[in-house]
Amino acid sequence: MRAAIITRPGSPEVLEIQDVPQPQPGPNEVLIRVHATAINRADLLQREGKYPPPAGASDIPGLEFAGEVATNGPGASLWRIGQRVFGIVAGGAYADYVIAHERTLGEIPANLSWSEAASIPEVFITAHDALWTQANLRAGENVLIHAVGSGVGIASVQLVRARGAVPFGTSRTADKLDAVRPFGVEAGLCLPGPEIAEPLKDFSNRVTGGRGFDVVLDLVGGPYVAASVSALAQRGRVMLVGTVAGQKAELTLGQVLSKRAHLIGTVMRARSLEEKIAAGEKFSKEVVPLFENRILRTSIDREFPFTTEGIRDAHRRLGSNKSVGKVVVNLKG
Ligand SMILES: NC(=O)c1ccc[n+]([C@@H]2O[C@H](COP(=O)([O-])OP(=O)(O)OC[C@H]3O[C@@H](n4cnc5c(N)ncnc54)[C@H](OP(=O)(O)O)[C@@H]3O)[C@@H](O)[C@H]2O)c1
Repeated sequence: MRAAIITRPGSPEVLEIQDVPQPQPGPNEVLIRVHATAINRADLLQREGKYPPPAGASDIPGLEFAGEVATNGPGASLWRIGQRVFGIVAGGAYADYVIAHERTLGEIPANLSWSEAASIPEVFITAHDALWTQANLRAGENVLIHAVGSGVGIASVQLVRARGAVPFGTSRTADKLDAVRPFGVEAGLCLPGPEIAEPLKDFSNRVTGGRGFDVVLDLVGGPYVAASVSALAQRGRVMLVGTVAGQKAELTLGQVLSKRAHLIGTVMRARSLEEKIAAGEKFSKEVVPLFENRILRTSIDREFPFTTEGIRDAHRRLGSNKSVGKVVVNLKG
């Protein structure tokens, strides 16, 4: 089968489509013929040699896919051959075939195309797990989403609205704030320079009437973490999901104490199989029906073909910080 291989750590040029052996499904696993996959920040780090796959995962990059069931492994019985499925894996989705545990898969709603379906799992499972499950988001709460024009950001805006809460967003790029408004952002704050804390405090006071944000979904980390704590309501929750703005933060701990704040870090890829199954099952039950009812929609920035140049361009596009929403790669046609 064809697979995109990281030939050595480096820039997008190290990616190459090569012929590799097709993987064989083990007990309770399913072999899926991939129709489309999508690019994630973690793939860029993996390509640079900074984020190796967890033990036992494929060396082939790719964390999400939409495809059809090709073969059931021993004991796998939940899916019929040809059924349309999507999901997340710890690696291996940049390929004609990928293997996933049968209980981590979801059925693709009939109203979604292959590329739409491939743009959903990573960002919606991450956002749903962080906001609905871990932050226990409640109707009427105010939620701030940093890097709101990102793939996870746009998914989060919609999930906040679907919960009856109110989403606000920040971006370094004013155009992205305009682009995400149709998804339901109540108000946006552009943070183009190094000043974050003061403008964010003013914004928080203005849009929440001085109460602060009940939840901050921090997709960037670094200096945003301290600014987020300052802009937090009493008993607010900061969900730390990404660190593209930096690995280190300096916090005023008195603020964390007096606000009785919760600072919760989360990753999806390194979780145990049982935890991934639990997150996937909640996603299938609580989120997938909202796509069927068209309450949620996908946001595809660009699509690329599954060629060596296509996969390199897809990585360049996500790495440029110009994308709004998901970068998708089509394996068929
Ligand atoms: N924990 C998990 O399991 C998990 C899962 C999926 C994603 N993530 C993380 O979630 C974040 C969003 O992922 P995504 O795939 O949706 O990303 P994406 O679409 O590539 O967007 C990321 C955005 O972050 C902003 N950004 C980049 N560098 C920045 C910096 N130095 N300071 C401030 N903002 C910066 C840029 O938007 P602006 O122009 O608006 O600044 C960029 O478009 C990433 O950090 C990713 O690693 C974590």
